[in-house]
Amino acid sequence: MKNIVILISGGGSNMAAIVQTAERERWSDKFGARVAAVLSNKADAKGLVFAREKGIPTAVLDHKAHATREAFDAALMTAIDAQQPALVVLAGFMRILTPGFVGHYAGCLLNIHPSLLPAFTGLHTHRRAIEAGCKFAGATVHQVTAELDHGPILAQAVVPVLPQDDEHTLAARVLTQEHLIYPRVIADLLQKM
Ligand code: GAR
Repeated sequence: MKNIVILISGGGSNMAAIVQTAERERWSDKFGARVAAVLSNKADAKGLVFAREKGIPTAVLDHKAHATREAFDAALMTAIDAQQPALVVLAGFMRILTPGFVGHYAGCLLNIHPSLLPAFTGLHTHRRAIEAGCKFAGATVHQVTAELDHGPILAQAVVPVLPQDDEHTLAARVLTQEHLIYPRVIADLLQKM
């Protein structure tokens, strides 16, 4: 079985989109793949409720319980590796990862970022896109490398920035596209494995 481990910090709507697409498209029959676990660094991440309702094993690893970034990432690696993952999927996982972690999962670590990379790495992407006067915004699925929000681009989706947009309306428009492109990228990768 090709195990997918998804890491979240919050709402988990991208995780939910991946789980629902996996169900609808029968990834277990088609690719021999399943979402094996959902891990969060926050106990109150809303997405954990959805995962539990779906019967997916979940675990919380509180980064504040670890003295250093390296110690947290080491604990995270232990939890992830217990699943023998084929893919590790960052879905709104709001932690900067150490080079050791990124290197450990080289080639099988994915992220989705709510901008058209390489524009607007980091936080507050929608606000910054509006402030910059961008007419288009979007989201990027990319392989994770040591440099934050860099790494080979696997897919992008573009949406218009409308005159009346604030960061919330733009974020919502981008998010609907995230829910389409992330499962597609994962399915494509699973098919090739
Ligand atoms: C998504 O918009 C995702 O692209 C973004 O956080 C949101 C999580 O939503 N990720 C980042 O900003 C990572 N730097 P979700 O928890 O509902 O999937």
